[in-house]
Amino acid sequence: MIRYFNKANGLFRAFKDRILPRYFIASPFFSSLYYIFFSNDFRREQHAVLQGKVLHLKELKYNKSNVYTLIRNTHRIEKGLLMRPRRPVYALDFITETVDAFVNIWDQKKMSDDLQYKWFHDVLSEYFATSGENAIVEREKKRFFNKIKETNSYRIIKKSIPYERAKADIPQISYEEFYKLTRYRRSVRWFLDKKVPRNIVDKAILAANQSPTACNRQPFEYRVIDDPELLKVVANLPMGVKGYVEGIPMMIVVVGNLDAYFDERDRHLIYIDASLANMTLMLALETLSLGSCPINWPDIEELEVKMDKVLKLEKHQRAVMCMAVGYPDPSGKVAYSEKKNLNTIRKYN
Ligand SMILES: Cc1cc2nc3c(=O)[nH]c(=O)nc-3n(C[C@H](O)[C@H](O)[C@H](O)COP(=O)(O)O)c2cc1C
Repeated sequence: MIRYFNKANGLFRAFKDRILPRYFIASPFFSSLYYIFFSNDFRREQHAVLQGKVLHLKELKYNKSNVYTLIRNTHRIEKGLLMRPRRPVYALDFITETVDAFVNIWDQKKMSDDLQYKWFHDVLSEYFATSGENAIVEREKKRFFNKIKETNSYRIIKKSIPYERAKADIPQISYEEFYKLTRYRRSVRWFLDKKVPRNIVDKAILAANQSPTACNRQPFEYRVIDDPELLKVVANLPMGVKGYVEGIPMMIVVVGNLDAYFDERDRHLIYIDASLANMTLMLALETLSLGSCPINWPDIEELEVKMDKVLKLEKHQRAVMCMAVGYPDPSGKVAYSEKKNLNTIRKYN
């Protein structure tokens, strides 16, 4: 009986995966029907995207305290400040929203240990100090300065506003050395049985955090797992670690925050932004004598449920990928992994 059931199930799966799609590719509408009636492969992503959107809009509209809005709008204002030529009056359509978020989020005490607060403060101060006359700007300027009137501790140090990069700050890293680093980094799967110091990993994450992200939102976080019990559970969740999972001393799970967006159109940014940062992270780890291996996190419901539970992820959060980290075992080999030829990957115009 079970055999017949399994056989029928297998046949239906083959029909659903190989035959049916051919008939549903006629248009985006038909594709949607396919994913409504025959496949739930996008269901969890859609749910997380919607959860994030609702959370975002709730904080934006009701609490007026959406930190991603404040970051994004501060970024947009900064772009206005560095425009050539700078328009005398701009940001009228979002300055009220920005000041709303600022006055609700602003915490003077945080300025000393969270430089992003200083950035909000300095960019908005500069905007109001340099804007041309306008009734909306005047109204928001009053609200802004009223909120920060007690704040004076940051007047003396360099402002976090657009600047010209100083020649003296140019890093002394030659292309040859950088290329050497990119060639030296290889996915490491054999590690020494040696604890990875948290302060070293933090240094690498600090470097990763300098990576570009859309509108500077930084919509991800690193869950660093080094507790042996938790590590055993988390490291065994991805499928791509077979054969070497026992020797992984630390696992990083990169988690995307979909509440960074008010619109579905931006749903891919958690993957793009996190991936850019992850590459920086892996190179930074190499400079600190640590090796790493990126590990795939495929969209598989059963595994996601487990990961969500063990890391206590919110519904708008999605694991993007994992990364094994540790001191490389010098006697462990790395794959040669020859890369594509330049002419294969590059076309001008
Ligand atoms: C998104 C992504 C997922 C990966 N998943 C795995 C994995 O599950 N298991 C594994 O051993 N390596 C994994 N890798 C490592 C790749 O196999 C490796 O990067 C590739 O073969 C090139 O080798 P290199 O990193 O040494 O240059 C992954 C890499 C990336 C970028």
